[in-house]
Amino acid sequence: MYGTWRCLLGGILLLQLLRSGQALDNGLARTPPMGWMSWERFRCITDCKLYPNECISENLFSRHADLLVSEGYAAAGYEYVIIDDCWLEKNRDSKTQKLVADKKRFPSGLNALADHIHEIGLKFGLYQDYGTNTCAGYPGVINHMKLDAQTFAEWDVDYVKLDGCYANISDMAVGYPEFGRLLNETGRPMVYSCSWPAYQEPAGEMPDYESLKKHCNLWRNWDDIDDSLESLMQIMDYFGKNQDRIQPQAGPGHWNDPDMLLLGNYGLSYDQSKLQMAIWAIMAAPLIMSNDLEAVRPEIKAILQNRAVIAVDQDELGIQGRRVATRNQIEVWQRPITPVAKNGHHSYAVAFVSRRDDGAPYRITFTIKELGLKNPNGYTVQDLYDSSRNLGVFKNGSEFVTRVNPNGVTFYKFTAL
Ligand code: GLA
Repeated sequence: MYGTWRCLLGGILLLQLLRSGQALDNGLARTPPMGWMSWERFRCITDCKLYPNECISENLFSRHADLLVSEGYAAAGYEYVIIDDCWLEKNRDSKTQKLVADKKRFPSGLNALADHIHEIGLKFGLYQDYGTNTCAGYPGVINHMKLDAQTFAEWDVDYVKLDGCYANISDMAVGYPEFGRLLNETGRPMVYSCSWPAYQEPAGEMPDYESLKKHCNLWRNWDDIDDSLESLMQIMDYFGKNQDRIQPQAGPGHWNDPDMLLLGNYGLSYDQSKLQMAIWAIMAAPLIMSNDLEAVRPEIKAILQNRAVIAVDQDELGIQGRRVATRNQIEVWQRPITPVAKNGHHSYAVAFVSRRDDGAPYRITFTIKELGLKNPNGYTVQDLYDSSRNLGVFKNGSEFVTRVNPNGVTFYKFTAL
């Protein structure tokens, strides 16, 4: 009975949404999306003869969908399988003007791939570009927005990443909301990921966060992530330095996106992998891996599937965290999370990030107040990377000692009492 009412209510809400023609408020991405995307690891590898297991092809996505399930990632929450750039034929269909997936690399067509992904309980994402071309030079949506939105719906797409290469930045304030509206008009709920601010801001324009929140479920704020600690740190610094304007924008249904998880690839050490995962959880970031799931080492897989860390990322309050202190090259990042104590004080996830590379783990002491934690009743503290480790109760005036590996992280949950 309850199910029937819920269904009915859902239907009415959807109808109202469609009638109002409003972009978004599509009920999706109430927590940051989780999944897997091809770009960071597989780029635009299109030679399937030379690289049969790496080329952008139905084989790659179907195999990774299967691996998400068989390797336990799906059970941990990773659900979107997202095709990034280089999936298209160089030309649209000459008669219908529809987009065409590369016929050699996707011989069964995207519907068949979507069916497979859906059959095993996952969701299907697809990349396109607002401009004349995608960043890698394939046809973009600009003169065919309605047709392309409809085609996405026909292909049973659940998530759209709309990039911004080969487009006028000044058109984006109208164009991105417009494509979101067209997606909604199809009646198929699709998460809408906008790359709009990542083009605006480097060009000196301030992103319009109100419009982003209204029209997009998530948005890339800044540069592409590459497979290195340096790239990771640059993105963290961008978010840290600009947190006063960026942090308040995140919330259920609308998220900042610092880009993909690098874990499982070539560039990050074990400690650096823990670091990215912790900071992405603090930032309420989408957890979108881009790696070869067959090659991920067990200890890295354990980080990617760490339920306690994922729970921080997916915390229902959806409050993004901030960098709150830096001393001796140790940064403190914290995020308010559930449970909220009876007296109204939040619990917190707190990460200590070492920017040091002087060899030995670095021991440092902070007062609870320095961590920005003010609950007069104090907190119980748990190590999020070692659930067996309870550190006890900490109150105002207590000191908290941690020892952080070079370019590493320690990560704790402070549960408000
Ligand atoms: C841009 C995006 C990347 C990726 C590539 C594909 O650089 O920011 O995430 O989608 O295009 O060409």
